[in-house]
Amino acid sequence: MPSRILLSEANLPRQWYNLAADLPHQPLPPLGRDGKPVNPQDLAVVFPMNLIEQELSQERWIPIPEEVLEILRRYRPTPLHRAKALEAHLKTPARIYFKNESVSPTGSHKVNTAVAQAYYNKIAGVKRITSETGAGQWGCSIAFACAQFGLTCKVYMVRVSHDQKPHRKVMMRTWGAECVASPSAETAAGRAILADDPNCPGSLGIAISEAIEAAVTDPTGQTRYTLGSVLNHVLLHQTIIGLEAQEQLASISEHKVDTIIGCVGGGSNFAGLSFPFIREKIHGAQIDIIAVEPASCPTLTRGPYVYDHGDVARMTPMLPMHSLGHAFMPPSIHAGGLRYHGMAPLVSQTVMDGLTRPVAVQQLECYAAAVTFARTEGIIPAPESAHAIAVTIREAIKAREEGKERVILFNLSGHGLMDLNGYADFLDGKLENHSLSEEDLLAGLSCMDGYPKPELVGV
Ligand SMILES: Cc1ncc(COP(=O)(O)O)c(C=O)c1O
Repeated sequence: MPSRILLSEANLPRQWYNLAADLPHQPLPPLGRDGKPVNPQDLAVVFPMNLIEQELSQERWIPIPEEVLEILRRYRPTPLHRAKALEAHLKTPARIYFKNESVSPTGSHKVNTAVAQAYYNKIAGVKRITSETGAGQWGCSIAFACAQFGLTCKVYMVRVSHDQKPHRKVMMRTWGAECVASPSAETAAGRAILADDPNCPGSLGIAISEAIEAAVTDPTGQTRYTLGSVLNHVLLHQTIIGLEAQEQLASISEHKVDTIIGCVGGGSNFAGLSFPFIREKIHGAQIDIIAVEPASCPTLTRGPYVYDHGDVARMTPMLPMHSLGHAFMPPSIHAGGLRYHGMAPLVSQTVMDGLTRPVAVQQLECYAAAVTFARTEGIIPAPESAHAIAVTIREAIKAREEGKERVILFNLSGHGLMDLNGYADFLDGKLENHSLSEEDLLAGLSCMDGYPKPELVGV
């Protein structure tokens, strides 16, 4: 039994998988301010039309352009690891596998869609990209991708992460991008927030508002906005992870996976690994598919399924998703990529359809799991990925207690080598758990009073 299951470059998937084609209910459309489904043309100031078409596509398989494959081949297919040392440490009969997305040039799965988005913008004639970033993984990825296609790039980085992870900014600059802390004084959205709270730690919702504003107010019309998660086309580009994993497991005759685990911020790495397996589940396979979020930002476990904006300044259409409210300000936990008030509409829908089981985990359990993983498997995981590891450990212990041989697959969405301040705080005993009080939850939800309610419709 090999420790690393490798696929050859020749076996890199040539198509992305679109779950929208197989869901038991039709995906609901985004709504404009008038409460009516948005017209693709309305989105054209924000995204190029080729990506808008992907966003709305119901095609099951979408070809990956050769120009994108050429760049993906530099680090893909990524290895599938068997976590033998972790299994031995836990004395579990479970076989634990993980997909290692940390081997990408920027250290996470985010590059998979960054390359595709930069490519589609380039061929649509766009010259400049704006975006937001939480932990900095997405900012680095879009900076890298823009460098490959000769695009100018500006990234608004959530202030708390900007201060916690200064080297991410250096990485973005090295790839040629400009990075500013958000909220910034450069946009009307940022200035309004700073006027209210000059020490605002920022949120992904605020940074998204700033990046969209910067794109749509460019007088040359040559700037577009990119998003590192949440939207259908972003999730689509990530499905290469799960498609590779299916091939890799088949190559070692591991035909039945019992449990799939991924952390969820906006939902893209979870979707990337799980959607090809959700397809199997829709067709009868028995798989427990678990989305893990922080207890301090419990979008799926405590947020309702609603129509809400993706950003604080309400510049995005209303999306059908689980949400804590677009004005929600998450606590400054170290897993910056999981501090988002909303969730990908497709992931939300899999929860509504009973295909995905959400679980919330506290920060200290995640860091303890991350340290166990580092001391056994050797890789220091991103604090976001540590959420998936914490639940993997729980499930492996359950298998031991029940005496059951089970196959668990999780996504190592990134490494944590740029996140060492969080590790230092944990090792020095300075980290605390955060739980969202019922009062704060209700206060956050009130910004959506009077919004339309989504109802899933059978096909
Ligand atoms: C390593 C890593 N994992 C996970 C996430 C969460 O995002 P998503 O849910 O889109 O995968 C992030 C976001 O920044 C990240 O950097």
